[in-house]
Amino acid sequence: QTNVIDIQPVAGSLGAEITGVELRPDSSDDVVALVRQAILEHKVVFVRGQDHLDDDLQAGFARRLGELTTAHPTVPGAESNTNVLPVDAERGNRANSWHHDVTFVQAPPSFSLLRAIVLPPYGGDTAWANTVSAYESLPDSLKQLAEQLWAVHTNDYDYSASHAVAAVTEQAKRYREQFTSTVYRTEHPVVRIHPETGEKTLLLGHFAQKFAGYNGSDSRHLFEILQNHVSRLENTVRWRWAPGDIAIWDNRLTQHYAVSDFGDTPRRLHRVTVAGDVPVSVDG
Ligand code: SIN
Repeated sequence: QTNVIDIQPVAGSLGAEITGVELRPDSSDDVVALVRQAILEHKVVFVRGQDHLDDDLQAGFARRLGELTTAHPTVPGAESNTNVLPVDAERGNRANSWHHDVTFVQAPPSFSLLRAIVLPPYGGDTAWANTVSAYESLPDSLKQLAEQLWAVHTNDYDYSASHAVAAVTEQAKRYREQFTSTVYRTEHPVVRIHPETGEKTLLLGHFAQKFAGYNGSDSRHLFEILQNHVSRLENTVRWRWAPGDIAIWDNRLTQHYAVSDFGDTPRRLHRVTVAGDVPVSVDG
């Protein structure tokens, strides 16, 4: 690689653009280490102009960051590569509420890689939020409470309450049926320790249904207080996609939100996720 690689933050709380790099399954170890370090530091990185990537090459680069998961626990992957999840608005897939990917399984993904393929003429941005600074922004007494909480995460969450679907279209109904064809339920600590950086980070998002030992009403109020610290605009970065862009985020340090403001125009991105581990609480 003869290019000079540069990393520039694009927002104050998280997010950086990497230039001068072509991501490939056979990228040098130095390039992979640099990208990995940038993800851990900036929590989400963006690389434009990766038009050379197809599904196999995207999955091939992702594998350099760790073992891959299948595309999704319930939604079938792309025909060309079972590690690739098409995120396709025309199939009813609009993730327009704050979430970490796939937290309803015991060991949610560590990294997600999302590549833009078909974009609407306007809108369709994705936003990410920093869940470490969200934890740090809590008053001490709330930090202590959050550290004792565990939340039940499920793929059968209340879609209407979290505004995950703008309107309940036929495609959205079919997508939800597929999404919940097997129901998963698991408990995670609300504050987890990041296995690589040691940071404390909030683990909430739209799959978190209720707090263990709390009734629905108390859970909703407390969830809102904590989740508002995640989604404060100053705690976010928003990316305007161009074809060939790829975003890579640490799913343990961020939540994200796909803005559904492009009507019925097509939007398709392909996602690959890297396997993660079982979240560990402050008590180990
Ligand atoms: C996702 O939730 O992983 C997809 C985000 C997006 O569609 O921008």
